[in-house]
Amino acid sequence: MLGFVACNVYVDHPGETAAPEAGETGDSGGVEPGPWTVQVHLTVDGVAEAGVAVMQAGTESMVLTDDRGVATILVDPQVPGDVWLAAGTEGAWNGGVEVDGPGPVDIALLRYDETDNPDYTFASPGADATADTNSGECGHCHLTIHRGWADSPHRSAASDPAVHAVYQGVDLALDEAACSAGAGEWGAAVTPGTGAAVEACHVGSGVVEGTGGNGACADCHAPGIGGETLAGHDLLEASGVAYDYGVHCDVCHKVASVDLEAEAGVAGRLRVIRPIDASPSRLLGEFHPLMFGPYLDVLNPLMGASFSELLHEAEFCAGCHQLEQPVLVSGEGVDLSRWPTGRLPIQTTWSEWEAGPMNPAAPCQSCHMPPAPEVGNSADLGNEFPTLLPGVGAGWLRPPGAVRAHTWVGPRDASSGMLELAAFVDVEAEVVGGEAVASVTVTNVGPGHAIPTGEPLRNLVLRVEASCDGVALTASGGDVVPAFGGAADTRSAPEALDVFPSAKVGDRVRFAVTTGMIDYHGAGPFGDGTFDAAEKGMSKLEFVGEAEVIAVGAAGTVTLDHPEYVSASDAAFLVPADDATALAGLPGFGFAKVLAGADGELMVPHHLAVDVVSDNRILATESFTTTHRFVATCAEPEVHAALLYRAYPWSQAQRYGWALDDRVMAEATR
Ligand code: HEC
Ligand code: HEC
Ligand code: HEC
Ligand code: HEC
Ligand code: HEC
Repeated sequence: MLGFVACNVYVDHPGETAAPEAGETGDSGGVEPGPWTVQVHLTVDGVAEAGVAVMQAGTESMVLTDDRGVATILVDPQVPGDVWLAAGTEGAWNGGVEVDGPGPVDIALLRYDETDNPDYTFASPGADATADTNSGECGHCHLTIHRGWADSPHRSAASDPAVHAVYQGVDLALDEAACSAGAGEWGAAVTPGTGAAVEACHVGSGVVEGTGGNGACADCHAPGIGGETLAGHDLLEASGVAYDYGVHCDVCHKVASVDLEAEAGVAGRLRVIRPIDASPSRLLGEFHPLMFGPYLDVLNPLMGASFSELLHEAEFCAGCHQLEQPVLVSGEGVDLSRWPTGRLPIQTTWSEWEAGPMNPAAPCQSCHMPPAPEVGNSADLGNEFPTLLPGVGAGWLRPPGAVRAHTWVGPRDASSGMLELAAFVDVEAEVVGGEAVASVTVTNVGPGHAIPTGEPLRNLVLRVEASCDGVALTASGGDVVPAFGGAADTRSAPEALDVFPSAKVGDRVRFAVTTGMIDYHGAGPFGDGTFDAAEKGMSKLEFVGEAEVIAVGAAGTVTLDHPEYVSASDAAFLVPADDATALAGLPGFGFAKVLAGADGELMVPHHLAVDVVSDNRILATESFTTTHRFVATCAEPEVHAALLYRAYPWSQAQRYGWALDDRVMAEATR
C-alpha cells in the first residue's frame, strides 16, 4: 500500500536497531527462576473491576482481569531491570507493584477527579533539553522528544510571525518610511508575547478589526493560556510558556478525549483536564500529576501517567487540524444555499484523511511522528542515559521504533522530503499540425489527505514550458495558472481588459479566454456531487497571449505590443516587468482552496472569508490532467512541467512581505 511505502521512507534510520545497553538483568540471585505465575487482584477505588489491562512492565505481555477483578499473568524475571506488574484503565492513574516471585499480588488503581482545574499552571517544556537541569521541565528527561518538538511548528504556533501578521493585519518588519512608501498605514499595534504598545504598519484587516471578535485563533495556536476556561482567549494574551512554546507537551498530554462535534481547539473539541486532585507529596507539585500517554506501564510518580489510546489516533489531531467556521466578518453572513450548516470548511485535513484510503491503517502520527528507533525509551534510557537501569524511575526499554519522534515533519521543513513524496507529475506530448500538444497529469501519491492541505493559504502552481533546442516555444493555447498564481491586477469581461491604472511601461499583460467551467473532483461538496461544475467555481481559462505595455494613457488605458489579444480574450492579468513570481496567466495550472472576502478578493486569510469559491486540491491517490499547446518549431520539442509548492498566495505574500520561496514538489520532462 502506498501509505506504508511512504511512511517507511520517513524513518530516519530504517535499518538501524536501538540495541541499547541494558546493563545487568534484574537481580535474580537466590530467586526462583521464571517464568512465575502471578495472580493479580485488581481494584479501582477499592472495588474489584473486570476488563482492566494488566501487564509485566517493559514487556509485550497483557491480560485482562475477569469478573472478580483477577488476572493471572506469567512473569519473566529475566527482563532487564526491575520486575513490576502494571495496570491501567480509562479514568484512573496507572498503577503497579514490584514482584519478587510467584504468588498473589494486589494492584489498587485510583480514579482521578475529571474536573478541569483553572488554578493549575501548565508545566514548561524547558527551553533547551541538553542544558535543562530542572526536573519540573519535560526536556530534563525527554531529551530526544524535546529536541524534535522544539524545532517543530507546534512549538512556534503562538509566536509565529505570520500568524501575528494576519491577527493584527500588520507587517511588523516595516518601518514608518517603508510603510508610507507602500500601501500601509502607520498606527498603533501590540507586541506579541509582551502586550507592549508599539507602532506598526497596518497592511490588512486584522482579526479584531475585521470581525469584532478574536477569531478563536488562540484555541489552537496558543492552547496553554490557561484561566477559568482554556478556550476563547485573545491571541495577544499569550505570554511566557503559552507564547514561547505554543502547542506544548503539557497541553497535548492533558487531552483526555476528543469530541468531534464541538468547536475546534482546546476546551471544545479537545477535552483538557488540568489536574485538581491534591498532590500526594510536595515534591510532585501542588496538584497530583496527570499525564495521558500511550503506555500502561509508566509508573514514575512524577508523571501521574494514565493510559490513553487516543494518542495513537487521527481524531486526536482533528482537535486542531479540522476547522469549520461561521463567517466571522462583521455584518456578513454565510450563503446557506451553499453551506447549509452555516459553516465554511476552512481546514479539512482530518476529514480529507477520514474519507481517504489511509483511514484507519495509517493515522496522521504514522507519517508526521515517525518512529525514533535510536532511543531506548521516550526518556532516553539506554541512549542519553546509558548507566540508568530500567525501572519505575527511568522507565522501561521499548522495542525500536515504539517511541515516536515529535518532529511533526511537514512541507515547510525542506529536509523532511515530505513535498517530494507527496506528488508525481507525468508529461505526455505529441506534435499535431505544427502544434506541440502536451498533457500533464499531477497525482497525489503520498499523504492520506489532499495536496495541498491544512492552512488554506497554501497553494500549488503548475508551470509548463516547451522548447526546441533550448529555445522556448510560444504558447498557443491550453490551461493557464489561475489568478492566485500571482498578478498585480486582474480584469474579466465585461470589464475593459486594457485598463490598468497601476500599469507601468514594460509590465506584461497575459490574456486568456474562458471556455467553460471545470468539473473537477475536490473535497467535500466540491467532490461529493453536491456542487455542479458552475458551483465549483473554477473557470476553464485558455491561454491567448502575452503582451508588453508600451504606453500607459489617461485613466490607465494601456497600449500593448499585441493589441489583438484584447478582443480575443475575456480575462487579463497584469504582471510587473521584473517579477518572475507572478505566474498568473502562464501555461500551467493551480490547485488551492480559494477563500473569498466580502469585497470579492480571493485567497484572503480565513477570518475575512465569506465563501469558499472553489477547492480543486487533489484528494489522496487522485489525479488531475491539464493540456497545453505550443507552436512547434521542431519535430520533437521538449516539454517540462514543474509543480511548485507555495506556503502563501502571491497576493498575501506581497501584502505581508512574506518570502514566496517556491519549492519544486515534482517535475518531469518529455
Ligand atoms: C501536538 C501534541 C503533542 C505535543 C505538543 C507533545 N506530544 Fe508527546 N505525544 C503525542 C502523541 C500523539 C503521542 C503518541 C504517538 C504515538 O505513539 O502514536 C505522544 C507520545 C509521547 C510519549 C510516549 C512515547 C511515545 O513517543 O510514544 C512521551 C514520553 C511524550 N509524548 C512526551 C512529550 C514531551 C516531553 C513533549 C514536549 C517536549 C511532548 N510529548 C509534546 C502528542 C504530543
Ligand atoms: C492544540 C492544537 C493542535 C493539535 C492537538 C495538533 N496540532 Fe498540529 N498544528 C497546530 C498548529 C496551530 C500548527 C501551525 C503552527 C504554525 O505554523 O503557526 C500545527 C502544525 C502542524 C504541522 C506542520 C505543518 C507544516 O506546515 O509544516 C504538522 C505536520 C502537524 N501540525 C501535525 C499534527 C499531528 C499529526 C497532530 C496529532 C498527533 C497534531 N498536529 C495535533 C495545532 C495542533
Ligand atoms: C501517508 C502519510 C501521511 C498521512 C497518513 C498524513 N499525512 Fe499529512 N502530509 C504528508 C505529506 C507527504 C505532506 C506534504 C505534502 C502536503 O503538503 O500535502 C503532508 C502535509 C501535511 C500538513 C502540511 C500542509 C501544509 O502545506 O502546510 C499538515 C498540517 C498535515 N499533513 C497534517 C496531517 C494530519 C492532521 C493528518 C491526519 C488526519 C495527516 N497529515 C496524515 C503525509 C501524510
Ligand atoms: C524526571 C524525569 C522526567 C521528567 C522531568 C518528565 N518525565 Fe515524562 N516520563 C519519564 C519517564 C522515565 C517516563 C517513562 C518512559 C518509558 O517507560 O517509556 C515518562 C513517560 C512519559 C509519558 C508517557 C506516559 C504513558 O503512560 O504513556 C508522557 C506522556 C510524559 N512522560 C510526558 C512528560 C511531560 C509532558 C513532562 C513535562 C511536564 C515530563 N514527561 C517530564 C520521566 C520524566
Ligand atoms: C482549529 C484550529 C485553528 C484555529 C482556530 C486557527 N488556526 Fe491557524 N492554523 C492551524 C493549523 C493546524 C495550522 C497549520 C496548518 C498547515 O501548516 O497547513 C495553522 C496555520 C496558520 C497560519 C499559517 C502559518 C505559517 O507560518 O505559515 C496562519 C497565518 C494562521 N494559521 C492564522 C490563524 C488566525 C489568524 C486564526 C484566527 C482567526 C487562526 N489561524 C485560527 C489551526 C488553527
